Parts: sequence; structure tokens; C-alpha cells
Amino acid sequence: MNVGDRHYRTIWLSDDKRSVEIIDQRWLPHDFRIEKIGTVAGIATAIRDMWVRGAPLIGVTAAYGVAMQMADDPSDAALDAVWETLHETRPTAINLRWALDEMRRFLRPLPLAERAAAAYRRAGEIADEDVGLNRAIGANGLEIIKAIAARKQKGEPVNILTHCNAGWLATVDYGTATAPIYLATEAGIPVHVYVDETRPRNQGAQLTAWEMAGHGVPHTLIVDNAGGHLMQRGEIDMVIVGTDRTTADGDVCNKIGTYLKALAAADNDVPFYVALPSPTIDWTVGDGLTEIPIEQRSPDEVSLVWGKTASGEIAQVRVSPEATPAANPAFDVTPARLVTGLITERGVAKASREGLKAMFPERE
Ligand code: MRU
Repeated sequence: MNVGDRHYRTIWLSDDKRSVEIIDQRWLPHDFRIEKIGTVAGIATAIRDMWVRGAPLIGVTAAYGVAMQMADDPSDAALDAVWETLHETRPTAINLRWALDEMRRFLRPLPLAERAAAAYRRAGEIADEDVGLNRAIGANGLEIIKAIAARKQKGEPVNILTHCNAGWLATVDYGTATAPIYLATEAGIPVHVYVDETRPRNQGAQLTAWEMAGHGVPHTLIVDNAGGHLMQRGEIDMVIVGTDRTTADGDVCNKIGTYLKALAAADNDVPFYVALPSPTIDWTVGDGLTEIPIEQRSPDEVSLVWGKTASGEIAQVRVSPEATPAANPAFDVTPARLVTGLITERGVAKASREGLKAMFPERE
């Protein structure tokens, strides 16, 4: 995405060819800060503390972490240790495990002396592949937006609701849920995006809204509880969200609150789509409700909210009594029956085992 007049990916290899530079998402939309990270410990912190976030970007960042480890110590023991260290950082997004598994599978057969260079190369390829997957998702999702636009009055926008940030900032470029939106905008199809604020961390208000503004996409920020009301009034044509892990049965795990949007969409006959690259499918899991670990994050994220003060300081404010305990499950599971379709890089699959198998027959 362009920031100012420069195109940025969310992560790239530094000039020293050993560190990476990332956009530190904790400060957006108020401040655009870039951080350089050159150690496995730094990578682990950046993922755990959400300097980078979003399932695909977490995976790519971890892949570079493995490369940093290989530059320090390319042994099998170090490879296993870095897998464990980075795997522990965030439990729900399967792209993290996918990227770590892929790096280990690729590196293990190589001689030790070749591992560091090969690891950086493979991490770079995984980043490039993510961009390609998202472009393909965009093209497939664009067809859905076009079909809805064709049923509307000429010039009337397609109203899309999205939750959390499954955009450029959650991937390497383009985003998953946002890729069809960006391609529609480029194709001159009028779209308007309702952006859920996405408490507690406000990824919608802080990141998706910033992305939409940057791309010139008409958008409106709404509180998380407004979606059902807007659907009842016919103001939403479709929902598109991302996912942190989708099971082989088509159950969709995504940011907390996604399930409630899916329920409201089903009750109001609003199509509910999930955009995902194939590394987000966990083929080892069927029932999302019982088999996906749900990240429990700090209660402080509920009780304290980040913002910019009138004096320009980026700071936290408390929104609840000091003594009130808070709970913070970060993801929920939307059962496959509530999902209209899974927009993948290969096409739109039915959210079912049969649908996913038909789209990815090699996974048999
Ligand atoms: O906790 P986050 O901000 O990492 O959660 C991100 C999401 O839930 C996204 O919707 C998901 O990772 C898909 S990103 C293409």
C-alpha cells in the first residue's frame, strides 16, 4: 500500500540482509513508525505484543525469525528451539505454525553451511507468495462484488461490512478481506465499507479505517454492536471478514465478535463471506469449537484503551473501575453453516469438508 508517495509492504529485509523492517502497528493511525528487528527475541516480542499482527503477517515474520536463528546457529537443535519459541507467541493463527513447519521442512535436509542463506531466501518467497495469494483472492472476491453491484441501481455503492483488520496490515500486501474491495475500487465499482471498531484493540477503528482512507475507499466507522441493526435495515449487502484458522470442515475462527456478525447476517439473509489463503486452513482439525485454542489476552486490553490526546500524546485511558475484572478472549468460531462461501486463491469454496476438498483435491 502507498503511504505518502511510497509503496510499502508490511515487512521487508533490511539493507544489512540480516534484519527485517516492519511497520509497528501499535501506533497507527496516529504515527507511522518503522522498527528494525534483528534477533529471534525481537521477532517473538513483535508477534506477541502485536507490533505485527494478522495471521499471514505473523507467519511471514516468524519465517524471518527462523532465518535469523539459522544465521546464528544452523543446527537441528537450534531449528527445533526457534520453532518452539516462535510457536508459543500466539496460539490461534494457524499461519504461524504453517510458516514454521514449512521453514523446518525446507531447511532440515540442507547442509548446515547452506541453511542461513536458504532460510532468508525461503522467508522472502513466503512473503512474495502471500502477495500472490491475496491478489488471487481479490480477483475471486471481485466477482462476488460485481454480481451484487449488477443487482443495484447504477452508481449505488455495494455496502460491505468488515470486522477487525484483514487488510494490507494483516498480510504482506493487499490483505485478504480487503483485496476484493481494493480491486473493486480500482475497477470503478462503487463500494462503501462499514468498519467495525473491533474492541478491545480496535483494529477496525485504528487500522482498517486508516487503510480505507489511504486507498480512498468510502467508509464509515461503526461500533461493534451496530452491524445487526444495519443489516435489519437493509444497509449491508455483504460481509467479508478474514480468518486466523479455518478447519477442514469449514468452521471459521476469527477476531472476537465475528460470530455475532455471522448470526445477524444469517437472520437477515446477508451473504457472509470469509477470505482466506490456503495456509490459513488447518487440515488437521474438523470441529472449530472444540479443537482450536482461543488466545486469552491481557484483561488490560479491555479496561484500558489507546488513543491520541488533545495534546498529541499517544496514551492509554481507563474505561472501567480499577477493581473490575475483565476477560479478553481474542477470537471466536463461526460454524460453517453460517458461512456463505470461503474466498480462496483458487475460487469460492463452500464452507464444508466437501467444498474445501473440491477446491484443494491434493489435500486428500
Ligand atoms: O489479533 P489480530 O489483530 O492478529 O487478529 C487479526 C484477525 O483476526 C484477522 O481477521 C485475521 O488474522 C485474518 S488477517 C488476513
